[in-house]
Amino acid sequence: MKRFLWGASSSAFQTEGNNLASDWWHIPVGSGDGMIQEASGDADDSYHRFDEDIALLADAGLNAYRFSIEWGRIEPVRAQFSQAEIDHYLRVLDSCRHHGIEAVITLHHFTNPTWFTDQGGWLNDEAPKLFESYVRAVEPILADSAVHYVVTFNEPNQLASLIGLMDPENHEPFDPDRMPIPDRRAVSNLLAAHLRARSIIHECGDEAGWSLASPAFETPDGRPVADLSGEGKTYADRREGDFLRLSRDDDFIGVQAYTRHLVNGDGPLGIPSDARLTANGWEYYPHALATALQATAEIARIPILVTENGIATDDDDRRIDYMRDALDDAARAAESLEVPILGYLHWSLLDNYEWGSYAPHFGLVAVDRGNHFVRHPKKSLKWLGRHCLDCPSGLA
Ligand code: BGC
Repeated sequence: MKRFLWGASSSAFQTEGNNLASDWWHIPVGSGDGMIQEASGDADDSYHRFDEDIALLADAGLNAYRFSIEWGRIEPVRAQFSQAEIDHYLRVLDSCRHHGIEAVITLHHFTNPTWFTDQGGWLNDEAPKLFESYVRAVEPILADSAVHYVVTFNEPNQLASLIGLMDPENHEPFDPDRMPIPDRRAVSNLLAAHLRARSIIHECGDEAGWSLASPAFETPDGRPVADLSGEGKTYADRREGDFLRLSRDDDFIGVQAYTRHLVNGDGPLGIPSDARLTANGWEYYPHALATALQATAEIARIPILVTENGIATDDDDRRIDYMRDALDDAARAAESLEVPILGYLHWSLLDNYEWGSYAPHFGLVAVDRGNHFVRHPKKSLKWLGRHCLDCPSGLA
């Protein structure tokens, strides 16, 4: 029987450092309406310190680590693949095996090789074929015995929304209270790429899925979102429901939940004025995970792996409270779901580059970037490790 996965997640661009061939590396500081406050630079230097990171997880009692492979490293120039970089990720897998950690691989976590973006990125209809060549190249990684679950895309719904924001064909001005509308062309290319990757993942003997940004839609009066009509229903469907339906033939789906989003029949309602906020301005709402699990199970109807759940805070006791409440509520919700939960991977193992800034701290481990990247495990890492020992075979 497969063991329940308890662990943490990371992504390459946010932790490795110096991903020079990736498109995000070239985004100027100050752009994106000030969202890019600093460059990623050396990040957490996990490219060199991965063994220490994996050992920290294992020492805490956890058994799984989700990390991503950086396409820009594997294929820095179109059709030129780097064997040395493939070997690097094989060494990361050796480290996982050595420490008794199961690796959950993400093939694409927001960043693209610069050449790919320059050629139109996900709006280029050649994109699925280009992605397939990259996935073929990393077959030795997928075939490694430390890997069973492969996430093709991290948050394709969020990625397509960000592309939508920049695509003039979307005709929807930016509104901070509305998630941008996912770009239809990007969605269709991401889906085609996902299906091509899924075949390769199956050839390698692994299970395939993608992970969605789970908005955890709720209504103010507690009515099910599925019962909404009008703009509220369309809003929720285009950002979550449609993607959940597209996932039905996958082996599993990744749920990534942080906070809820309130909607009614007229559309999104924004954060309630009396809400408690996290350090990055989201509503503090641990119950979001339970809501996300319920919606995902009802619509996608396939096994679920929690691939991200966490909180930006400088107060580690608050992180523990958030995790405790999220896990308690999720365990209760899981009792009535008709699909299995395969594991819980906290976001994130390390404080890392939060897409424009190092200020929000999501990590179970702090990193002293001013002092040789020394790792400082927080109490929350120990807490999660102990929780995993208390609940070895499931959320409860
Ligand atoms: C992303 C992570 C990010 C986290 C917190 C998720 O949407 O997958 O890369 O750091 O949210 O913002």
